[in-house]
Amino acid sequence: MKKHNFSAGPSILPQEVFQKASEAILDFNGMGLSLLEISHRSKEFVAVMDEARAIVKRLMNLGDDYEVLYLQGGASLQFLMTPMNLLTENGKAAYTDTGTWAAGAIKEAKKVGNIDVVGSSKEDNYSYIPKDYKVGADYDYFHCTSNNTIYGTQIKSFPEVDTLMVCDMSSDIFSRQLDFSKFDLIYAGAQKN
Ligand SMILES: Cc1ncc(COP(=O)(O)O)c(C=O)c1O
Repeated sequence: MKKHNFSAGPSILPQEVFQKASEAILDFNGMGLSLLEISHRSKEFVAVMDEARAIVKRLMNLGDDYEVLYLQGGASLQFLMTPMNLLTENGKAAYTDTGTWAAGAIKEAKKVGNIDVVGSSKEDNYSYIPKDYKVGADYDYFHCTSNNTIYGTQIKSFPEVDTLMVCDMSSDIFSRQLDFSKFDLIYAGAQKN
């Protein structure tokens, strides 16, 4: 019997997903080769990645003004890549500290430049999402964590900010419909299913 698993990490997937994945591992599209045995530059494999990118955009209702990137290093690498890409020289970024992973993002970003924590619930054991802050155009970007995996708090309504909106959606991406076009950068670790 198939067991259920309520893990905030890898959780259960539909059986059809395993079926399709295992078929592709044995013989991909009748090629006589496994998906793991064909070149990552072959048209067959490029088509798999193109489809995976298109599905993400379709699910998020995003147009061609957005790019979907599959990157190595998980969400944690984005803690560093985000400021490396978005923080200007002498610029600053605004972060909310709402849990273990938000704090991790802040710690990494501080290695790159000036970070202001504009809202925090740390003193109250991360038991709520802070709301009483404003983020002006003097910030290069604003960073938030949509779902605080370890504390179980989730942003229900996202703030309006006057700068770029960045969000770590690792533990609730694709779990609800949002206006994703409000965001300038969304990242998520893929290990959570
Ligand atoms: C909200 C959040 N951000 C970041 C991470 C780290 O992700 P990764 O393991 O892909 O670096 C996790 C959990 O693993 C998470 O729950």
